[in-house]
Amino acid sequence: MNFETQAIHAGQDPDPLTGAVVTPVYLTSTYKQDGVGGTRGGYEYSRTANPTRAALETCLAALENGTHAFAFASGMAAEDCLIRTLCRPGDTVPIPGDAYGGTFRLFDKVLTTWGVEYGTVRQTDLQAVADFASQRRPRLIWTESPTNPLLSIVDIPALAEIAHGCGALLVVDNTFASPYLQRPLDFGADIVIHSTTKYLGGHSDVVGGAIVVKDPGQAKDLAFNQNATGAVAGPFDAWLTLRGVKTLAVRMDRHCANAARVAAMLGEHPAVAEVLYPGLPGHPGHELAVKQMRDFGGMVSFRLRDGEEAAVAMCGRTRLFTLGESLGGVESLIEHPARMTHASAAESPLAVPPDLVRLSVGIEDADDLLADLRQALG
Ligand SMILES: Cc1ncc(COP(=O)(O)O)c(C=O)c1O
Repeated sequence: MNFETQAIHAGQDPDPLTGAVVTPVYLTSTYKQDGVGGTRGGYEYSRTANPTRAALETCLAALENGTHAFAFASGMAAEDCLIRTLCRPGDTVPIPGDAYGGTFRLFDKVLTTWGVEYGTVRQTDLQAVADFASQRRPRLIWTESPTNPLLSIVDIPALAEIAHGCGALLVVDNTFASPYLQRPLDFGADIVIHSTTKYLGGHSDVVGGAIVVKDPGQAKDLAFNQNATGAVAGPFDAWLTLRGVKTLAVRMDRHCANAARVAAMLGEHPAVAEVLYPGLPGHPGHELAVKQMRDFGGMVSFRLRDGEEAAVAMCGRTRLFTLGESLGGVESLIEHPARMTHASAAESPLAVPPDLVRLSVGIEDADDLLADLRQALG
C-alpha cells in the first residue's frame, strides 16, 4: 500500500465487533479475562496495551516503514523512555548543536544526574561527528533533521554509517519532516522518534509522542520499558492522533506549498536579514534535503535586520499567525524561539540567535498569510 492509503487503513480495519469504520475509543483500564490468563487478543490492562493505542502504533510503524511503534503521552516521554532503554550510566550521547530545547534540557538537567552525559556536535560537520564517535564510543547518536528552529539538514545515510562504524545506533527526531516527507529508517537510521503533537496529530488538540523501530529486539526492550515506566498515550489522545494522521499527506502538501511562498516573500523583504528554509536553493542543506525529503516542510525561520527587539515586536503584530509555542497544526503560528521554545537553551551552546523568528506555516490561504506577514514586518 502506498503512504496515503496506509495512513487511512494501516491498523484501522473496521471494528471486529460492530463493523465501526472508525477505530473506537476503548475507554477502559482493564479487560475481562475468560478464566485466569484467558485474555481476549492479549489485552489485560491499558498501560500495557489498549486497542485504540495499538491501532495508532500499527499505523505509525507502517508510515515510518518500521516494524513496531510505541505511542507515548508526549514527545518528551518518548525520548525519555528511549534513552533510558538504550543508555547506561557512563554513556555519552552526541546531540546536534541546534537540537530542540526540550531535548537539550532532558539531557542537560535530567539525564546527566543519572550519569548519562551528552556532547553537542555540529552534525552538518560529518568529520566532527566521526571524531566524537571514535573518541567517545557512544551507544547512540541523536539527530534531528530539519532541526528546530534553525532548519539545518543533516546527512542521515552518512550519520548512520558513522554510527554503525562505531557500534552505535542512529536515532532521528523526525518531528519537523513527518514520515510523509522523510523516512529515516529507509536511509539507514535505526530508530525514529516523534512529537506526534505536531504534524502527525496536525490540529493542535493533542500532545503525544512516538518511537518507531525496525529491530524486534529493541521493540521487545521498549515494550517492556513503556509498560514498566508507564507514560503511555491515553486512548482518546491516541484516537485524536490517529484521526489527524489520516490527512497527513494532504495537509503536508499544503503546508509545504504555503511555506515555499512565505520563504520566497521573506527573502525579498528589506526588513529580513536571512531566511532559513531548506527549500531555498541558497540554503546550505538544500541539496541534501532534495535527496532525503519529498518536499521541504512547513517550518520557516528568519532573522530580522533590526535585531531582537524588532523580532519580538513583529511576533506581537501578526493577526493571522497566532503567537504561540508548538507547530505543525493547520493554523499558522509565530514565535520568538530565544524567549519561548528555546529559552531553556539560553546561555548554552544551543542558544539560538535573538533576532530569530520561527513560523509554523499553516494551511490557510497563502495570500492571506503573506498579507499578514507583510503588515507585521511593516
Ligand atoms: C523536534 C521536537 N522534538 C520533540 C519535541 C517534544 O515533544 P512534546 O512537546 O510532544 O513533548 C518537540 C516539541 O516541540 C519538538 O519540536
